[in-house]
Amino acid sequence: MCGIFGYIGPDDSAEICIEGLKKLEYRGYDSAGLAGIHSGEFLFCKEVGKIDALEESWQKQKNKLSLAIAHTRWATHGKPTAENAHPHFDEHFNVAVVHNGIIENHHALREMLKEKGHNFQTETDTEVIAHLIYHFYEGNFLTAVQKSLSLLKGFWGLAILHKNHPDTIIAAANENPLAIAQHFDRQEVYISSDPNAFHKPDLDVLFLRSQEVAVICSSKVDVFNHTHERISKPTEKLQLEKHERSKGHFEHFMLKEIFEQPQTIRQALHSRLSIEFGTVEFDNFAFTLEELQGVRRILILACGTSWHAGSIAALLLEDKARIPTQAEIASEFRHKNPIISEDTLVIAISQSGETLDTISAVREAKRKGAKILAICNVQNSTLTREADSTLFLRAGPEISVCSTKAFTSQITVLSLFALLMGRLRHVSKEEGQAFIKELLNLPTVVEKVLEKAPLIKRLAKKYSKYPHFFFLGRHYMFTTSQEAALKLKEISYLHATGYPAGEMKHGPIALIDENLAVIGLCGNLKTYEKTLSNLTEVKARGAPILAIAFEEAPEIEEIATDTLYLPLICDELASIPFSVATQLLAYYIAKEQGTNIDLPRNLAKSVTVE
Ligand code: F6R
Repeated sequence: MCGIFGYIGPDDSAEICIEGLKKLEYRGYDSAGLAGIHSGEFLFCKEVGKIDALEESWQKQKNKLSLAIAHTRWATHGKPTAENAHPHFDEHFNVAVVHNGIIENHHALREMLKEKGHNFQTETDTEVIAHLIYHFYEGNFLTAVQKSLSLLKGFWGLAILHKNHPDTIIAAANENPLAIAQHFDRQEVYISSDPNAFHKPDLDVLFLRSQEVAVICSSKVDVFNHTHERISKPTEKLQLEKHERSKGHFEHFMLKEIFEQPQTIRQALHSRLSIEFGTVEFDNFAFTLEELQGVRRILILACGTSWHAGSIAALLLEDKARIPTQAEIASEFRHKNPIISEDTLVIAISQSGETLDTISAVREAKRKGAKILAICNVQNSTLTREADSTLFLRAGPEISVCSTKAFTSQITVLSLFALLMGRLRHVSKEEGQAFIKELLNLPTVVEKVLEKAPLIKRLAKKYSKYPHFFFLGRHYMFTTSQEAALKLKEISYLHATGYPAGEMKHGPIALIDENLAVIGLCGNLKTYEKTLSNLTEVKARGAPILAIAFEEAPEIEEIATDTLYLPLICDELASIPFSVATQLLAYYIAKEQGTNIDLPRNLAKSVTVE
């Protein structure tokens, strides 16, 4: 979703901001823009589509800027047009604003400003901020910003310029992250919604917290709190992530990332296993064994695919560690008045570490006294800074909007955590060693699934003609079926539902006919026969069935129209190879549908709105 980049210093600010925006591209966006001050007036440029279009258009201006703010937009209020792209200005072009987040009371503010004679140019919520600052400005830029912010409801990361202050950027945050990086020797300051976009060593980085405002000049940064007092903020030198972001020989990032999974699973396991003691050891883990032994309940918070990983982990944790565990959808959790006792551990799962629903839920849990363990892929992300400790996925950047490798790494890391919690309780050394053997076998099993890509492609061609899909499974295969359905719908735009196979007869079976394809996930030995019975009920109603089953699964060919066999692995870990197979199925069906796989419609990689 939206990204902010700003720069003030000796280099050409527009060029640096465009480079910064390119590093934020992975978040997903539909338009981009930048603005700076030149000879006392704003110069700006906005384009729909790729940042390359913005760069090309800006280069025609041939002007160098000493300060600039820039933005990638993912439309919320108003269509993805150049007009609605940021920066937004007041009607007299005195104030320029780039904004991440949502102003919930923008409608009331807009009406109030209209009554005072303001004319609006766009449908966006952001434009009211520029008008408010213009309205309150009486010579002091900071005061005008502070007065404006006091009227806003919602959440924001903001970078603001005023044409009378050509050497100052004001930044502000509320719930949305904003990092400010200084290079004292060069008298330069960077601003970004993601510190990994700085990509320059040796920067002193500070993070604005909610309700803080920073006045930024090339030589200094002054930060003010919610009561307008100047505060001193600690800075840190960050280990910034440096990764290659190319598709290699793959047609799409999604396919590349699906094929990376044997390696990413190996990385997730690397140096974390103690085979001798049948247990797990995590580096830099803030929780002591005594603290972990004291945990009596686990609450998992996450969204989307990460919630699916959490739901699988909940089964694993109850199974291995016998700890009551609930996986909650983060956006629902906050409305529940949740019960969090002293011995509850909250696990927050997020690939990006920036999902606002998850972060808001974590903050709510912290307010109620919970300790937070984050499972995250991105160093320095907001979630990792909010959590008491983080277990990193080590999956490398996930560029594809569809999460694939992060999902299997999440399950891998959570399986390690479940084993550790189990070994601190009832699981014997021998049982631990047996589970480790299965874990170590995972990369090879996934390699074998990937070898089946040509067969999966053929099956995808056959099944892509159906408009509706049911993915059915039991136990670990139920959530696996939900994840498979999510993958299919988000990139192929076909209707798909993941359902517990045993629940079909309680209603949804009414939908079954020859136009609805059923994908039966038969990957758990414990529930295999019961799943088979459910597929028989489907067959009797004429639906085509693609069964995905472990090798040598009995009787399946008599029931299914087509069968895809995958290597056998224990029930607890079967979600991984079965998900890899359904990721490939979704990918190849989407190819048949001709959708834009790397940029599926309406979706963003980092979901920074609630
Ligand atoms: C689906 C997908 C989303 C994310 C969700 C949470 O393929 O990627 O459902 O899983 O938006 O994102 P993170 O894990 O970054 O918190």
